[in-house]
Amino acid sequence: MPAIVTIDGPAGSGKSTAARLLAGRLGFDFLDTGAMYRAVALSCVAEGTCLNDADAIAGTALGRSISLEGERVLLDGRDVTAEIRSSEVTEAASVVAVVPEVRELLVSSQRGWASGRNVVTEGRDQGTIVFPDAMCKFFLTADPAERAARRQRELQEVGQPVSLDEMLGLIHERDERDATRETGPLVAAEDAAVIDTTGLTMEEVVELLEDRVRQRMAQQQQQ
Ligand code: DC
Repeated sequence: MPAIVTIDGPAGSGKSTAARLLAGRLGFDFLDTGAMYRAVALSCVAEGTCLNDADAIAGTALGRSISLEGERVLLDGRDVTAEIRSSEVTEAASVVAVVPEVRELLVSSQRGWASGRNVVTEGRDQGTIVFPDAMCKFFLTADPAERAARRQRELQEVGQPVSLDEMLGLIHERDERDATRETGPLVAAEDAAVIDTTGLTMEEVVELLEDRVRQRMAQQQQQ
C-alpha cells in the first residue's frame, strides 16, 4: 500500500524545506499543498476577484485548472511557479484558504494527486482532514520570532525585503486566520508528532523526521 507522510504547521516552521528534503531521502514524491492555495490566490489577483466575496473567490477557483508537475505549478497550463511567491499572493492565499468551496476543491485534487504514490505532503490540514490515515504525521512549530526571521530571509532572497517587525505582524495575522477558520483549521492531528524546530538546523530536523518514518516503516513491515 502506498505510504503517506504528512507535515503540517504554521508559516516559517521549516516544513516546506523539511518536506522536500525528506521526500528526496525517502524516494517519495513531494506535494506542496500551499502552492495550490497560492495558485487560486493568483487567479483571484489576476482577475480582480473581490477578496471579501467568498462566492466570487469560489467561482474563480472552480473556473481554473491547477496542476503540479514536479516542482512546477501550472495555472491553466501556464507556469506560475515564481509568481505565486510574491507578497501579494501570499496574503491573498491566506484569505482564499478560508473559503470552504476552495478547500473542498483542493482537498479532492490533493487526494487525487497522491493516489497510488508514496508521498510526503505538507500544508495545514494534511494529517487532520486530507489524509487522516497517513502512515506518519508531523506537526512542526517554531518560535514566532524565528519564523519571522526565516520568512524575512526567504523574501530577501527573492528581492522583496521587509522589516522584521512587519514580518512578525504578518505572521501573527496569518497564524490567526489559519488557526481560527471553520474549515480545515491549522491544528495538530491527535496522532501527530509535534516537533519544535526552534534552534534546530534543517539537517537536524530532516534527520529526526527520517528516523521516525523509517522506524514506522519497519514496524509496519513486521505487522
Ligand atoms: O504554506 P504556504 O505559505 O505556501 O501556504 C499558503 C497559504 O495557504 C497559507 O495562508 C495557508 C494556506 N494553506 C492552507 O490553508 N491549507 C493547506 N493545506 C496549505 C496551505
